[in-house]
Amino acid sequence: SKKIIIAIDGYSSTGKSTLAKHLAKEIGYVYVDTGAMYRAVTYYAMKQGLIDMEHFDKEGLISDLDNIDLRFEFSPELGYAEIFLNDQNVESYIRSIEVSNLVSKVARISQVREKLVEQQQKMALNKGIVMDGRDIGTIVFPQAELKIFMTASAEKRAQRRYKEMKDNGVQIEYDTVLENVTSRDHLDTTRADSPLVKAEDAVEIDNSNMTVEETYALAMGYVKDKL
Ligand code: C5P
Repeated sequence: SKKIIIAIDGYSSTGKSTLAKHLAKEIGYVYVDTGAMYRAVTYYAMKQGLIDMEHFDKEGLISDLDNIDLRFEFSPELGYAEIFLNDQNVESYIRSIEVSNLVSKVARISQVREKLVEQQQKMALNKGIVMDGRDIGTIVFPQAELKIFMTASAEKRAQRRYKEMKDNGVQIEYDTVLENVTSRDHLDTTRADSPLVKAEDAVEIDNSNMTVEETYALAMGYVKDKL
């Protein structure tokens, strides 16, 4: 059967990456987490002292972009690809609350988006890809054969993220997680360049009251219709 591009967009912590990973594994496609790319650039900027909660040297980051090399490397043990920043595996650093609180400021910069979108488009030259993010169905692959847009109430999303962090031994307050989820939603939907918006031809899944398995079953139905 023919290979297609599957674009999964939506709000923070709606389970996009869980769904995308599962779908990709089931149909033997490559999964690409574009949020990891924006997070890795943010981590780089933090390490270079270009951004913190008080200040952001945007011009400094823009002029440093050519020194940022991102690549994904498939991990057979994990069953998905991990992200490398200038040859260092940064998977374990990019999901921190510090990066989460700054990433949407970095993702607003057009020069950053231009660089990452170009790299993302090159990854799909052979199709057979499931990519998740905020602008995949609108900007990166407007021609994608299947577009899924994921939503859920902010409270449900914060509860899930909070539980996940607690389960991983992270010390954090529920309100801090809710605040991060809602402020990223705000920044992502209101930015001038490539704001988070549902593509006209996307199917919407609101999984506020659905389990991971129910979300997967529904999405898999859409996938089978396209293959
Ligand atoms: O998907 P994840 O929550 O890891 O993404 C982190 C942030 O990266 C988002 O809140 C958004 O600001 C940015 N992002 C983006 N475009 C994408 C993927 C992520 O602007 N395609």
